[in-house]
Amino acid sequence: MRETEQKAVKAYTEKFGGAPELVASAPGRINLIGEHTDYNGGFVLPCAIDRRIAVAVGTGEGGLYSADFDETREPGERDDSWADYPRGVAWAMGEKGHETGSFRAAFTGDVPLGSGLSSSAAIEAATALALDALLGLGMSRKDLAVLCQRAENDYVGVASGIMDQYASLLCEAGAALLVDCRSLEAKSVPLDLAAADLALVVCDTRVERGLADTGYNDRRSTCESAASTLGLEELREATEEDLKRLSGEELKRARHVISENARVLEAVEALNDNDFDHFGRLMYASHASLRDDYEVSTPELDTFVETARQHGATGARLTGAGFGGCAIALLPKAQSDRVKRACKRSFADADFEDPAFYEFLPATGAELTRSPSVQV
Ligand code: GLA
Repeated sequence: MRETEQKAVKAYTEKFGGAPELVASAPGRINLIGEHTDYNGGFVLPCAIDRRIAVAVGTGEGGLYSADFDETREPGERDDSWADYPRGVAWAMGEKGHETGSFRAAFTGDVPLGSGLSSSAAIEAATALALDALLGLGMSRKDLAVLCQRAENDYVGVASGIMDQYASLLCEAGAALLVDCRSLEAKSVPLDLAAADLALVVCDTRVERGLADTGYNDRRSTCESAASTLGLEELREATEEDLKRLSGEELKRARHVISENARVLEAVEALNDNDFDHFGRLMYASHASLRDDYEVSTPELDTFVETARQHGATGARLTGAGFGGCAIALLPKAQSDRVKRACKRSFADADFEDPAFYEFLPATGAELTRSPSVQV
């Protein structure tokens, strides 16, 4: 078991007495390319990061315990806390006719919170995998991801797409995950960064972003209205030719979605050919489109991308919803410290918050261990 899983088991044992029946853990994610395409039925290419949330679970009363916040919440009503995510998953299982009955759970994790690395999808995915096993449901990973999205949309009340939950449940180590968000088919795309001597640096701008923010919902509804202006169900079906029939914000948002979907497919080809330079150019183009057409970048995100470019990064872009949060750069491993230092300087010069950096190799998706015990 991983350290995080061990910690969850220990927290469960100390809190509730006795060993849990299962422990599950699930990762956060970064998105390599394919932003704001999932809710338009388009393509995304995320990978899991090696930061996870673990949950140890057993049947019986006792509630939901967070070892990180050292607090217990009742399974019951929504209260706008972290506990809404596991509650939402239990609710969504009930909606599918699988009453969870009473269960208790202890959570812990190291996915940075509120910075766009999908800690919420990680806690949902870990809970869903654990409850599925506890109840012996045998649901597929894809169905669990859809169930987690339902929890997020209809219980927590955040209108996210399917990308984060898919990434957390279906990603494989050493690979990115190409998801067709219309058919919900997913396929691993090998991404061996170590062999290419490349690093993936994540810059957390420390500008808190809330998905419930009007910006995200605004973008979604403009996309829906652009699709309906074109007589289409989703912008996924729109072509460049269709853009002639749009204007204003509908035109800009649709232009991003159409070009971004094409970039994802091109990026997958580039990865299959081991052509990281091509992949990097697509990342820069994605950022420019998110900045100029989708208008979800911030001065901090732009500064990171420009600084990375000036210091020889292969590619860089904002990742996740935008409006703050994180950006990523793909760059020769030897350059990574230089880029981080230069970025810290640019942020200080501009009077931005001091950024935080992480480096990740594409990690494995959610995992389950039965009858776990704390190893000493
Ligand atoms: C957030 C949402 C995802 C996706 C991205 C933008 O991360 O949770 O579903 O829409 O924003 O690509």
